[in-house]
Amino acid sequence: MFEEAKHLRIPGPTPVPPAVQRAASKAMINHRSPEFRRIALSVQEGLRYVFQTEHDVVVLTGSGTAAMEAAVANLVSPGTKALVLVGGKFGERWLELVQAYRGEAVVLEYPYGEGVRPERVAEALAAHPGIEVVFATQNESSTAVLNDIEGIAEAVRRGSDALLVVDAISGLGGAPLPMDAWGVDVVVAGSQKCLMLPPGLSFVAASERAWRRMERSASPRYYFDLPAYRKAGAKGETPYTPNVSLFFALEEALALIQGEGLEKGFERHRLMRDMVRAGIRALGLPLFVDEEWASPTLTAVAGVEGLDVEQLRKVVNTDFGVILSGGQGELKGKIFRIGHMGYATPLDMITALGAVELGLRRAGYDAPLGAGVRAAQEVLLQWLM
Ligand SMILES: Cc1ncc(COP(=O)(O)O)c(C=O)c1O
Repeated sequence: MFEEAKHLRIPGPTPVPPAVQRAASKAMINHRSPEFRRIALSVQEGLRYVFQTEHDVVVLTGSGTAAMEAAVANLVSPGTKALVLVGGKFGERWLELVQAYRGEAVVLEYPYGEGVRPERVAEALAAHPGIEVVFATQNESSTAVLNDIEGIAEAVRRGSDALLVVDAISGLGGAPLPMDAWGVDVVVAGSQKCLMLPPGLSFVAASERAWRRMERSASPRYYFDLPAYRKAGAKGETPYTPNVSLFFALEEALALIQGEGLEKGFERHRLMRDMVRAGIRALGLPLFVDEEWASPTLTAVAGVEGLDVEQLRKVVNTDFGVILSGGQGELKGKIFRIGHMGYATPLDMITALGAVELGLRRAGYDAPLGAGVRAAQEVLLQWLM
C-alpha cells in the first residue's frame, strides 16, 4: 500500500489538502518582518470568521492541549472554584488541568455516549454558589458526542456570572459554535482537526469579559500568558518565535474554509455523519451514540459478540489502507471510531464503509457485503435531491 494513498479516518490528525501542504513547505522568513506581519493579521481575520467572533483570537505553538492549559493558566488560580463537565477523556483533561493549577473543582459527570443536559448544569451552578469558570467540551472525541453548547451557555448565563470555556478542538469548523451569538467566553481549538492543518498550532478566542478576567488573574504564567499574545497579535506579531511554516499553511487553510463557506462545511459534516451512521446501521452494528448526541465529525461504533474491534482495525489498515481509531481509556477494545472531519468528502465515507465491510469479513464476522455502502449511497442521493 502506498503510504500516501492511505485513508486517514481518525479524529485527528486529519488529511491535509495539497495546497495547505505546499504552503507549509515555503521557504522560511523572518518572523519580525512585514511579510510575516501581513500573514499574522490576515489569519486573525480568517480565525474570527471560523470562530464566529468579533473578539481577538490568539495563535499558540503547541497542540490543542496547549490552548486548554493556556485557558486554565490564565483563569484558574489556587482556590478558584470551577465547574467541570466530564463525560469522556477530554472532559477529564479539563479536570486534571484545573487540579494542576490548584483550582477547586466541582465535577458534573455525564454518561459516556451522551451529552450533558443543560438543566443539570443549571442545577450544579445553583447548588455550588461562587463558581467562577465552567469548563465544557463541545465535541467529546473519546465518545463521539456533540454537546449542546448553546443550551449550556444559556444555563451558565442565566444562573451565574461564571465564564464559559469550551474545548472545541475536534468540532470547530465542523459543527456550529457561534461564540458571540451563544455567549461563550472562551473557545479553544487545535490545528489538526477540522482546520485541515498538520498538528502544532492551537487557538484561543476570548470575549472582552474573559480578557479582563485574564488580565486581573494572579495565576503565575509565562509562555502561556495570553494577554501577551493578544498585545503582540494586535501588531501582527507573536511574543515568541512562532511556527512560521504552519502560519503559511493556516492562511491557505482559512482561505479554503472561507471558500467553501462555514455553513456549507457544517452541512458536509452532517452529511458525512448521516452516511456513516446509515452504513453502520445497515451492517447490523450498534452505534455507540444516539441520534440526539451524534457528532458530525466522528462516529463511534460499538463492538458486538463475535467481533474483535481491534482485529477489525488492524485488517482494515493492513489489507485496505484505511486507518480507524480505537476506544480510549475504559472504551479500549469496546468501540472503534471513524473520523469524518476536515478535508474529507462524502465519497471518502463510501470508501471507509467499503473497507469496514471487507474488514469485518476478514476479521471473521459475517456482514453483508455492500449493505453499508449502499445505505450511505442512498443518504447521499437523497441529500442531492
Ligand atoms: C476534544 C479534544 N480535546 C482535546 C484534545 C487534545 O488535543 P491535542 O492532542 O492536540 O493536545 C483532543 C485531541 O484529540 C480532542 O479531540
